[in-house]
Amino acid sequence: MNIGRRHVQTLLSGLAVSALCGGLFAAWYVYEPALDRISRPERSAFDMGTVKKGEQLATVGDCIVCHTAGNGPPFAGSRPLPTPFGTLYSTNITPDERTGIGNWSQEAFARALKQGVSRDGSHLYPALPYEHFTHVTDDDIRSLYAFLMTRQAVVADVPENKLLPGLGFRPLLAGWKMLFLHRGGFAPLAGKTEAWNRGKYLVDGLAHCGGCHTPRNIAGGEKRGSEFAGGLAEGWIAPPLDRSNPSAGRWTEASLFAYLKNADNGSHGIAGGPMGPVAEGLSKLDDADVSAIALYIASVMGREGATPDDGPAIDNAQSASTKHPEGADLFRGACAACHEPGSAMSQQGRLPLSALTSVRMADPANAASAVMMGIPAPSGGGNLMPSFSSAMSESQVADLLQYVRARFTNGSPWKDTEGAASSARPEDER
Ligand code: HEC
Ligand code: HEC
Ligand code: HEC
Repeated sequence: MNIGRRHVQTLLSGLAVSALCGGLFAAWYVYEPALDRISRPERSAFDMGTVKKGEQLATVGDCIVCHTAGNGPPFAGSRPLPTPFGTLYSTNITPDERTGIGNWSQEAFARALKQGVSRDGSHLYPALPYEHFTHVTDDDIRSLYAFLMTRQAVVADVPENKLLPGLGFRPLLAGWKMLFLHRGGFAPLAGKTEAWNRGKYLVDGLAHCGGCHTPRNIAGGEKRGSEFAGGLAEGWIAPPLDRSNPSAGRWTEASLFAYLKNADNGSHGIAGGPMGPVAEGLSKLDDADVSAIALYIASVMGREGATPDDGPAIDNAQSASTKHPEGADLFRGACAACHEPGSAMSQQGRLPLSALTSVRMADPANAASAVMMGIPAPSGGGNLMPSFSSAMSESQVADLLQYVRARFTNGSPWKDTEGAASSARPEDER
């Protein structure tokens, strides 16, 4: 009996000790020290070669896309980023000392990008894609730092994040990182070419393609084992880039290069939605690096060294208008001038709707977004396709989409096109 009680006591104190250790471990894991402020480095402290290299890398990393508000000054932050957990605002990463990163050391900068920890020791949200940036080499971090520290300093405070209750508590992010942040440098794969490894380094690291093209779990972490199986981005679907890619004309290294470098290409159509700024950034990158990305993505799709094969040109005009007469009318009035097979636009080498991934995908989100928001020209200045959100109601767009789907694909009818139209309506019109 006595022995039994002693045993219980030992067990209890054992538990207490492990709880204490667990607590200490958790505190240790959550805790990150503040790193000292430095006085802002002089521009002349950085050599131009390093700054130039940093500029290209910042382009690959889309730093300017997320860290610039609508018409705001470059890198000064405040762009709202909607997430399932609320709205985050990007920070000011110009070298202003009070509101930006002017007194950050390179060490503090590297820690933010690779471990998601701010200079003052607080944990950052993974909207900054540190899951990917963690693979970036120290040399590339040095160039990025040199580039940003030599930008124009802008004094700009950033709005408070608007997150669901409880999620504003940053120490929680340490737990998220324990589960989903896989730290570690990039290890080139033996047996693959230098270009392939370069492509993988850029795609998995700075270019963070998986940040949109890989599905996420309910805690917002990228699903391991489903890399590039397709994901969500700002209401758009980022199609799968693996072997299940739904494109009609199947991709080749050359067509991927053209799409990524020029945003627009004769074999696959335009880079719409959030893919637009990505391609815009890549257009400024050296051809050799864009080729490397195309080569690597082609291999993920199983299309390495493949030749083009155009999909069938589907046009079920008759049966589609019988099934969806209202949609057919709307199409004739609003879309046919550009999208009717044989129209002037198609004679200029534009693809028929049957060749566009957004029409072939099982989900109408991207087609609905294109109709509701239109498509800005890649070079800025005007639209390739106008927005129809003020001209059509949700139910009209829904009928129109059913018609487009029935006419230009042999796929099964879309579900809930009205829901898709309503979620695609621009926020300021709701
Ligand atoms: C997909 C959007 C996105 C991209 C791309 C992005 N960032 Fe950010 N970044 C954010 C957000 C949002 C935050 C704020 C996170 C928070 O509040 O926890 C942030 C925070 C930071 C911080 C920490 C600032 C601070 O005051 O704590 C730095 C430094 C930073 N980003 C640099 C970069 C650089 C350099 C790049 C390009 C290589 C980049 N970011 C690309 C969204 C992005
Ligand atoms: C002024 C010409 C014009 C009009 C009018 C127009 N479009 Fe477009 N649309 C375009 C162009 C250009 C593209 C890009 C084509 C490409 O990718 O090669 C496009 C692309 C699309 C896409 C694919 C979007 C993507 O990102 O994959 C869909 C879907 C679409 N249009 C549907 C419609 C519908 C439905 C209408 C009528 C409500 C319409 N368009 C009216 C010019 C137009
Ligand atoms: C911010 C989110 C985002 C990022 C980052 C992103 N993509 Fe995309 N991508 C999209 C969306 C959304 C589409 C669909 C565009 C459309 O329908 O017009 C797309 C379309 C594509 C397509 C066309 C797929 C098809 O079959 O039609 C390719 C190829 C592609 N992306 C490659 C890449 C590569 C390579 C990278 C990294 C360099 C990348 N993407 C980064 C969101 C993103």
